[in-house]
Amino acid sequence: KKIISIVGARPQFIKHAPIQIQLKRFFNDITVHTGQHYDENMSQVFFEELNISRPDYLFDIGGSKPQGEQTGIMMAEIEKVCIREKPHALLVYGDTNSTLAGTLVAAKMQIPLIHIEAGLRSYNMAMPEEVNRIIADRFAYLLFCPTIEAVENLKKEGINYENVFVSGDVMCDMLKLVENRAKALADYPYYFVTLHRPYNTDNKERLLQVLNHLNKLDWPVVFPMHPRTVTKLNNYGFKKGDFRNINIISPVGYIESISWQKFALAVITDSGGIQKEAYMLKKRCITIRTETEWKETLKGGWNTLLYDNLECLQENLNKPLTDYQEDLYGKGNAAEEIVQLIKQRL
Ligand code: UD1
Ligand code: UDP
Repeated sequence: KKIISIVGARPQFIKHAPIQIQLKRFFNDITVHTGQHYDENMSQVFFEELNISRPDYLFDIGGSKPQGEQTGIMMAEIEKVCIREKPHALLVYGDTNSTLAGTLVAAKMQIPLIHIEAGLRSYNMAMPEEVNRIIADRFAYLLFCPTIEAVENLKKEGINYENVFVSGDVMCDMLKLVENRAKALADYPYYFVTLHRPYNTDNKERLLQVLNHLNKLDWPVVFPMHPRTVTKLNNYGFKKGDFRNINIISPVGYIESISWQKFALAVITDSGGIQKEAYMLKKRCITIRTETEWKETLKGGWNTLLYDNLECLQENLNKPLTDYQEDLYGKGNAAEEIVQLIKQRL
């Protein structure tokens, strides 16, 4: 049988790596890259270092488009591929606009949809990701949840749980595969930072406020900056050197990202995936958001939400940590379980 996997944004390449290995064992695996992320260090680097096969289809959708246009172009292109390839199922990951485009095409063409990382909710409808994940879960035929909390979220929405599975998290699989290759990249103590959410970057005062607080921390900050954030920083007239305590570098590959996190004093981020990675690496995480879809990381103080009162950043970085839960995101065999279940159900 033929399965088309849709990827497009950085975290989806990482999630696809362990799944593709398993899919290839039993299915005719076709990968569509929507081109949502296109810079070499946001896309190609992951295909190379994680040994993902070259995409069978790669769209040139052009960067910097409004969300509707971006999603619309992806839909038109995915539809063409599906007409040509006649897949038995379409597989989508997470909550990006590439996920949404794949979901809507599957729904319109009546192709069974598989959603990996199902059931996550931040309950913040202002986030495009929340809209995307609700729609994906609503139309999915098979839903793979990383945690039991995600299953509970789906139950509340009345989503048929015959087809809902707790599979563990494929990002845990990936981390376990590479963790022993992580090595120290600096000979000084530092905080590891990433930021790319519109509410932290798309307003000049807000971005400046966050950067000023990072600039005041007791230890230096290493910050591989997402292209969205770089574009905004430039548009607002700042330069990378304006913040002396912040070492702004280009986005890094996956193993480097894990390496920076593993040897950091702590992690400060608004990323979804990095909140989990920090937890699995037993690092404190401060999440610069008002809510999180990864609520289980908050227990024991391992992850702390901070948005308005950034003056408490340093204080929060020094608080004690308790109650660590091993294997919160599974034992590293999520991809294998997921693909076995797909094989049984499809
Ligand atoms: C997207 C996802 C977000 C995810 C993030 C992962 C949506 C709505 N958002 O956010 O959920 O957490 O990816 O990183 O799908 N750009 C480049 N080069 C690139 C990629 C992006 O220059 O390779 C710039 C473009 O100017 C683009 C902007 O970044 O307009 C935003 O990119 P986009 O993919 O729309 O959203 P992200 O912020 O990356
Ligand atoms: N990541 C990376 N290089 C970087 C920053 C992040 O490889 O410069 C990895 C990170 O380790 C995690 C994933 O990208 O595995 C998270 O993606 P991102 O923060 O872009 O998206 P989100 O998870 O918020 O959707």
